[in-house]
Parts: sequence; structure tokens; C-alpha cells
Amino acid sequence: MKVALGITGCIAAYKAIEVMRGLQKAGISVQVILTRSGAQFVTPLTFESLSAQNVITDMFQQGQNRDIHHISVAQSIQLLAVVPATANIIGKFAHGIADDFLSTLYLSNPAPVLLAPAMNVEMWNHPAVRSNVEILKGRGHYFVNPEPGPLACGMEGEGRLASVDVIVARIVEALRTGESLAGMRVLVTAGPTVEDIDPVRFLSNRSSGKMGYAVAQAARQRGAEVFLVSGPTALKAPSGVRFVPVRSAAQMKDAVLQFYPSADIVVKAAAVADYRPVEAAPQKIKKNDNSLTLQLERTEDILAILGRQKKGQVLVGFAAETERLLDHAREKMARKNLDLLVANDVSAGVFGSDRSTVHILEAGGVIETLTDRSKMEIAGKLLDHAMSVRKRSTAAAQSGE
Ligand code: CTP
Repeated sequence: MKVALGITGCIAAYKAIEVMRGLQKAGISVQVILTRSGAQFVTPLTFESLSAQNVITDMFQQGQNRDIHHISVAQSIQLLAVVPATANIIGKFAHGIADDFLSTLYLSNPAPVLLAPAMNVEMWNHPAVRSNVEILKGRGHYFVNPEPGPLACGMEGEGRLASVDVIVARIVEALRTGESLAGMRVLVTAGPTVEDIDPVRFLSNRSSGKMGYAVAQAARQRGAEVFLVSGPTALKAPSGVRFVPVRSAAQMKDAVLQFYPSADIVVKAAAVADYRPVEAAPQKIKKNDNSLTLQLERTEDILAILGRQKKGQVLVGFAAETERLLDHAREKMARKNLDLLVANDVSAGVFGSDRSTVHILEAGGVIETLTDRSKMEIAGKLLDHAMSVRKRSTAAAQSGE
């Protein structure tokens, strides 16, 4: 296990020495990256002596041009941790500014990211910092929040770097989470489906695909092999997932059934059309003065098919409802033979948002309610529950139940 430990310019930088030693004691190899301001507070020599490794301090360091160094570091680590993280580095990460080694590494790094901020309380509470933190949380990054107490600047409040033990424990936990789906195959569906009426018109829905893409990204970050079957969306597929674009419910069904037998966890976040035109007109339908009747037929319920064919997969469905949310959710779970169901109330027009409020249900009822959380956070919790279902059913199968 290898962690890149970024150290930025803040008085708490000296505590990063203890963090590095704590990680080494836990058997984790550490590549230290000291920003120019970080090096004003602690010296590269301190870290070099303790880690017996080169410390990276510059984008264009002598003797490091054998490979493209920020790429080779990015490929070799399982986590990028920044301790302490200043308001400046949080802002650069949030907005993709790459003007030194650490911020450039951030952009080339596919591994999970953890930040332990430390700064003056007014800075920590500034709307600019708050919104940058939200952007990074929305990308699924971990935060070890600062603690309240006396600050170096003489003020009192939230801003002190969290304790070394807490930071080390959170890094170790994040590394474990990052491996928690290693060897698993996760199949995710996302987005709307599109049912053609004629060559220029179609029936579809308001799904943005953000929830399904967040699940695919979170599963990939945890080491799973991920298949993302998606209807048309404006989103870019997360890196490292096998992306299968589809259009109609029928195409989605074919793609899903192809990957289903080898999947361990299936998350059906797509908003699949329930009806399609009986026949798409081969030419554009021309208007006249009469009203127009479209004849629709049912599409197949993909999730119900999966429920019938289930052989050990953990099956997760979604229910977007505008009334009697939990009644409908429970009924759907039973009817489609699901292990987990995510129910959300869409009466308030929540489509396209980066945040959501959901209830996660098992057969016995609601097991967790997540209020106004980022979709990445919901995705993480959902995968935790899916793994817990899987562990329980594997244990039950082994004990012959
Ligand atoms: N689903 C599916 N195939 C369909 C319809 C829905 O796989 N043809 C899946 C969705 O991906 C989602 C869940 O089933 O996980 C939603 O179920 P359901 O509520 O039946 O879909 P709705 O269209 O919302 O149904 P209803 O009109 O009954 O509320």
C-alpha cells in the first residue's frame, strides 16, 4: 500500500511528520510531496531522513525526468492525502488549477483523495472555502474536518488540524474502503431511456443519470470492475469503468442481461420507460388539423426479470415516487425480489440535482435515511449496504441455511 502525502503551507505542517510515521508504523509506504509554502514550515530533509525516500518539492526537479513523474506517482498510489490542506490547495483542487506538483498530481490521480484542512476559523467558514469543500465532497473525496480550539493566530474556533491519530486512522480506513470491492463485478444502469416516435421525436424522462454515475464511480474507486449501462445523458463516464451506451429500454435489457450472470452487485438506477410507441414511424409524422393518438405498449420490466433470474447477485432497485413513497417502495421490493431499494420523493422536482434525500430499504423496512446528501455520499452508503447484504448471504450459504 502506498500513499502520496501532500503537505501544504500551514503552521500545522509539522504534525504531518507524525502522520507520516503513523502510516509507516501501519505498514504503509509514503511518498511525501511538499509544496513550496509547505517547505517554509518543514524541511524536505526532515521527511527524507525519516522516510528514506526522495521528497518531491518541485514540478521540474533535477533527476526526475526519466518518466512523467506526476503520472508515475499517480499510477503507483492507492490514496492521495493532503495534511494539512490549506484554503489555497482546496480551492485549486476544486477548480482544477494545476500550477505545482501536488495540484498537477491531483488531476492525474485516479485513486481516492483525503483532505485534512487546517486554517483560521474565519477562512474555514468563508463561503468560498465552504463551496470549494462541497465541490470536493461532491467528487467523493474524504474530509477529516478541523477541530475547534485555540488557533495559532490567537483566535478560537474550528480550524485546528484534527489529531494525528484520527487522521492516520481515517487514512487507513480509506485505504481499506478503497479495496473493499476488489474482485467484485458491479453492474450499474443509469440515465433515462429514449423511445422513438419517428426519426425526430421521442418519449423520455427527466433522469440526469447523476445517481447511477456516482454509484459507478464509487464502486470503481473501491476497486470493483464496473459495467455502466447508460441511456443518453450529458455526463462523462467515470474513468476506469466499462461504459455501454444504450438508447431504448429494449437495448438496455439486452446489455444488462449480457453482464448479469457474472455480476456480484447490480444497481438499477436507470429510469426505464414503462411504455414505448408500438411502432416508430419510419418517416417524420406530418401534422394535420386532427388530434393525434399514439399507441403505446409496455416495455419489459428489466429489474423484475433480474429478480426472477437472481442467482446470488445483490439486486438494488430505485423507486422515484410522488406520493405514498414507502408503501410503493415496499411493494416494489417484494414484487421485484430485490435485496435493497433506494426510495426518493420526486414530487419537488429534484431531477438533475447533485444532492438528494433518500430512504434505503431492506425487506424489513427502512434501514437508513440520508437527508440532503451528495449523490457520491449516497452511492458510498449504498455500496456499504450492498456489501453487508452480500456478506450475510455468503455466511448463510456457508452455514447451509
Ligand atoms: N425498471 C426496470 N425496467 C422497467 C422499469 C423500471 O428495470 N421497464 C427499474 C428501474 O431501473 C428502477 C425500478 O425498476 O430500479 C423502478 O421501478 P418502477 O417503479 O416499477 O418503475 P416506475 O416506472 O417508476 O414504475 P411505476 O410507474 O409503477 O411507479
